[in-house]
Amino acid sequence: MDVTAALRWIGSIDGTLELVDQRLLPIEFTHLNIDNIPDLYDAIKTLAVRGAPAIGVSAAYGLVIALQQDGLSDINAALKTLQDQAAYLATSRPTAVNLFWALNRVQTFAENWVTGHAGAGVDEFRQAVLGEAHAICREDIVMCKRIGEHGAAVVPEDGAVLTHCNAGALATAGQGTALSVFFEAHRQGKSFKVYADETRPLLQGARLTAWELQHAGIDTVLICDNMAGWLMKQGKINAVVTGADRIAANGDAANKIGTYSVSVLAARHKIPFYIAAPSSTFDLSLATGAEIEIEERDSREITHPGERQWAPEGIAVSNPAFDVVDAADIAGIITEHGIIEKPNTERVAQHFAENG
Ligand code: MRU
Repeated sequence: MDVTAALRWIGSIDGTLELVDQRLLPIEFTHLNIDNIPDLYDAIKTLAVRGAPAIGVSAAYGLVIALQQDGLSDINAALKTLQDQAAYLATSRPTAVNLFWALNRVQTFAENWVTGHAGAGVDEFRQAVLGEAHAICREDIVMCKRIGEHGAAVVPEDGAVLTHCNAGALATAGQGTALSVFFEAHRQGKSFKVYADETRPLLQGARLTAWELQHAGIDTVLICDNMAGWLMKQGKINAVVTGADRIAANGDAANKIGTYSVSVLAARHKIPFYIAAPSSTFDLSLATGAEIEIEERDSREITHPGERQWAPEGIAVSNPAFDVVDAADIAGIITEHGIIEKPNTERVAQHFAENG
């Protein structure tokens, strides 16, 4: 079973996007073959594909699929279709900035290409757009690997790390972000344990992270979200590493709901808390995390997990899918360029100024 390929493009300009259907894991390992935009929209919305970088790369390939429709008379008509479908895909989920980053990148590329290739054919344009989507995918793979290499040092020898949600291969085009840190530390021969929060309500930790780490042969212990504090109090956790969905200019970082609680617990117990994320997860247009839009999801995810009713009919429910960790509680943000220690506005800006 290849755990390292959450998504891949099959074929050339008339190809399809193959996605691991993450809704069915860990019981079933099957793929979806996406060949139209409504199916891709649905796959993103229902978390068949999820995790910030994986959503972004999938959306980039989606714009190749958008150009597969018949009747695109010339490259200007094709560009208009691409722009319309990008606007539609952008409404699938609001929090992970990688979605908007990838859509904007392909759109800007496409607009420049059309400007510079007056008279070119639609197939040539489609080929160029596929090339850009492939570039985004390849870069994500490299970024994941580098994040792991930079981050492996924060994994304590003979210690234990906690992670929340899934920031693994399933969440990216490569080997993940937070889990890449563990994969690289494991590859280096370090001995350590990972505690994986189950991550209510959709159990990405239990279903996906535990599955990935088990396949990698990493010593993994699954816990319910409400157990982390008690383990910390007992001195059983030495560091926390999670992914992120959007990081503001001051280092505040949005991630799966429950991450904020973990960060507060870690601060209370003086345990270093790290975020691992590629530069495509930064949204430097937002001064602080207070500006990050938080997705509110269907109440049935809480009242009817697995379609079985767990709560009284008609009960009011709150189901924010993400929360925001204060930069002040982050020991470091691990990117493909290195680690931003004790992030704040100046250090984040300096990191990007030094690394382009
Ligand atoms: O709702 P999800 O499963 O898409 O949420 C995913 C997360 O919160 C991940 O931690 C984040 O996207 C980082 S993935 C490298």
